[in-house]
Amino acid sequence: MTTPASTRHLVLVGLMGAGKSTVGAACAERLHRPLLDTDHLVETAAGRSVREIFDAEGEAGFRALERDAVERAADGDPAVIACGGGVAVDPANRAVLRDRGFVVWLDAPVDALADRASRAPGVRPLLAVGDPVATLERLADERHDAYAGIAHVRIDTADRSVAAVTDLVLEALGA
Ligand code: S3P
Repeated sequence: MTTPASTRHLVLVGLMGAGKSTVGAACAERLHRPLLDTDHLVETAAGRSVREIFDAEGEAGFRALERDAVERAADGDPAVIACGGGVAVDPANRAVLRDRGFVVWLDAPVDALADRASRAPGVRPLLAVGDPVATLERLADERHDAYAGIAHVRIDTADRSVAAVTDLVLEALGA
């Protein structure tokens, strides 16, 4: 079942560094909708940072909190939902977000993603160990089908400004 466009969330998915939070903020402003960032929802609910949660409970603990955050976001009024990079891996997350949202996959070559992610060092536990480019290459491979399966549209953000990507997202949404 799909919900009518006017009541749908705008959902942004993609790997770390794809620009979900910055483009999400710009889209939220243009659409006069709240921005719900799943990492922030998790952190607020847990009273801890993503990194602290990974340290204390591992990735599995973080994913459980993330699933709850996605459910809460999807249940609310139409919003812009900027998803953490791993949200789309979970089939339940994919089902609810695709059903209640218009889902945009923000994509870019891994060296561009690594470059952007390096601007916020220490924030992303999955990039804390090993070579970030190699990790992002592996994740891009592993997650390709999950992103392709949830997304209504894929937009390449490489060499595009936040404003240009925002225009493309809103055009795809029909806003
Ligand atoms: C993750 C992405 C992060 C955050 C966590 C795990 C991932 O969010 O949820 O560090 O698995 O790709 P961003 O994509 O917003 O960096």
